[in-house]
Amino acid sequence: MSVKDEILQQLESNKGSYISGGQLANNLGVSRNAVWKAIKSLEKNGYQITAVPNKGYCLSDQNDILSPSSINQYLKHPLNISVYKTISSTNTVLKEDANNGAPEGTVIISEEQTAGRGRMGKKFYSPAGTGIYLSVLLRPDMPANESLFLTTSAAVATAKAIEDVSDKKAGIKWVNDIYIDSKKVCGILTEAAFNLETGKLDYAIVGIGINICFPNGGFPSDIDNIATAVFDKTSDSINKRSRLIAHLLDYLMDYYQNINKKDYVKDYIDRSILIGKDVQLIESNNTIPATVLSIDDDCRLKVQLENGSERWLTSGEVSIKLHN
Ligand code: BTN
Repeated sequence: MSVKDEILQQLESNKGSYISGGQLANNLGVSRNAVWKAIKSLEKNGYQITAVPNKGYCLSDQNDILSPSSINQYLKHPLNISVYKTISSTNTVLKEDANNGAPEGTVIISEEQTAGRGRMGKKFYSPAGTGIYLSVLLRPDMPANESLFLTTSAAVATAKAIEDVSDKKAGIKWVNDIYIDSKKVCGILTEAAFNLETGKLDYAIVGIGINICFPNGGFPSDIDNIATAVFDKTSDSINKRSRLIAHLLDYLMDYYQNINKKDYVKDYIDRSILIGKDVQLIESNNTIPATVLSIDDDCRLKVQLENGSERWLTSGEVSIKLHN
C-alpha cells in the first residue's frame, strides 16, 4: 500500500478527530514531510482535511468519498477492492479481469456506470454520486445449475445491509430485485462462465446496483414510478455507503462460503414480496396471468395459472410483473 493510501486509512478510521503529523509519521515509519505531501495529494483528490498546529490532521466527517480504505475499516473478509469514479460497467470490466486470471474476492466498485447492464439485455440506470454499483468475482466449485443460489444469497445480503444502515424494510422480488415500499431500489445481475467439460462454473460475477439517493431532478420518466432509493435525503446517506458496502460484502461472503447450508433461504422466503400476489409472467413476448403460491428451498417460484395448473419457475427466461 502506498504512503498516501496508508494515511487515508488512518484518517478514515479517525474520521472527525485529529491525529498528529508526528503520530502518522511514526505509525507509518516515514518522515513528517512525506505525511504532508500525502495530505496535499489527498486534498487534491477532493478530501477535506483540516490541519491545525499542535493538533494535527482531521478528515471531515462530511467527507463521503468511497475508497478501499473507507470500506475496509468495516469489512471482515479480506477482499481485493478497487474503487472507480466512473466505469463502463463493473460487470464488464471484472469479466475481463476474471478472464485474465483475477482471483476470487476481487471487487470492483464505481460511483457511476456509463454502460450499466441489467437482466434480459436491459440498461441499468447508473448516474454519478447517487448509487452504488459493484461486482464481486467468485470462483465456486459449483455445478452450473446451482448458480441461481449466488443471486438469491446476494439478494438477502443486500437487503440485510440496506436495513443495517437505514430505517427502511427491504423486500425481495423473485428473483433478483430488492424493493422498498413497493418500488425497486436494487437489481442484481449474475453472469458466469462455464467449463463445458466439467459442467461446473469457471467463475461467476455477481453485480449489484443500489439506488442510494434520489438523483437530482428525479429518476428518468421510464422508471420514475417504479424506482426508489434507500435514503430520502442525500444528507441522510453521508457516511453510510461504505458501511452498507462492507456489510453487504461480508454477508455475501458468509453465505457464499457456506452456500450448501442454504442459511439465507429462510430469509429469502420471508422477505418475498410476491407470495400470495397476482402477477404476470413475461415469457418470450407472452404475458401469462398467474398467482404466486410459494418459494421452495431451491428458491424456485411456484405459481398457479388461470386454468388451475401449477408451474415451478427456476429463473432466467421468465420475468415477473406485479399487478398494481
Ligand atoms: C437488473 O435490475 O436487471 C439487474 C441490474 C444489475 C446492475 C448492476 S450495477 C453493477 C453491475 N454492473 C452492471 O453493469 N450491472 C450490475
